Amino acid sequence: MKIAISGKGGVGKTLLAALLSKIFVESGYSVLAIDADPDANLAATLGFPNPEKITPISEMKALIEERTGVQSGQVGSFFKLNPKVDDLPEKYSVRYDGIKLMVMGRVKKGGSGCYCPENAMLQTLLAHLLVARNEVVILDMEAGIEHLGRGTAKAVDKLIVVVEPGRRSIETAYAINKLAQDIGLSNIAVVGNKLRSQSEKEFLISSLPDFEFLGFIPYDQAIVDADLANVPVVDSSQQVINEVRNIYQALLPAQVQAEQTK
Ligand SMILES: Nc1ncnc2c1ncn2[C@@H]1O[C@H](COP(=O)(O)OP(=O)(O)OP(=O)(O)O)[C@@H](O)[C@H]1O
Ligand SMILES: [Mg+2]
Repeated sequence: MKIAISGKGGVGKTLLAALLSKIFVESGYSVLAIDADPDANLAATLGFPNPEKITPISEMKALIEERTGVQSGQVGSFFKLNPKVDDLPEKYSVRYDGIKLMVMGRVKKGGSGCYCPENAMLQTLLAHLLVARNEVVILDMEAGIEHLGRGTAKAVDKLIVVVEPGRRSIETAYAINKLAQDIGLSNIAVVGNKLRSQSEKEFLISSLPDFEFLGFIPYDQAIVDADLANVPVVDSSQQVINEVRNIYQALLPAQVQAEQTK
């Protein structure tokens, strides 16, 4: 199963990616978590030791040169558009608590004429991870989903857009929905996060009438406190974990859900 998570800045994408990764692993799945946000913090959120020491793929200059045939940073020269990447997940992922993690680094926006070797490398790698790998892949992204590309978008089983009670995150959800339609990705669902009241939940439902909601995560001060105390937030709130378990259940294919209730 391939799950991509997007949404406005600060809505809780990384928290959801981290908790889903943990829950899939606990349930016996092999999980590859991908941090595709330029401001990478999935490793820290998952409690990886020394997250700052993980080198993002986009900064592996020698590797990029070896695989694309061109030094990173060089624009306009000829390089391989389809570099070899299938060995990278084993070589360059880091492991902690049963979760495999790859940090992509800065993926330059496509479409605006940036055909740099880093971009070719990251896009090919992302396509490989989503299309060819036989495991649960959880992709923590920024609000822009352009770098998914048409071919890759089809491999995404669910694009989860995280929203919080607030108009800007709703607007971002509509913008992401539009981008998704443009690249042929129609399996979109929404998760409401940081909810403090029933009326906030109703606000989200009425603001996004045509969207499928996978769940509603409560606001919990314990998460903020854990963040401030620099301890892993993934273990800090039982009520948040419980709701993400429900979201996990809702993501499972129908035949697996039926097996579980037997
Ligand atoms: N349910 C919640 N209750 C309380 N605080 C939360 C909740 N969800 C997320 N937070 C806090 O909100 C902040 C943003 O969360 P997170 O980093 O997961 O969001 P994000 O969408 O990945 O942000 P960015 O766009 O910066 O990558 C963090 O400090 C996190 O601890
Ligand atoms: Mg994040």
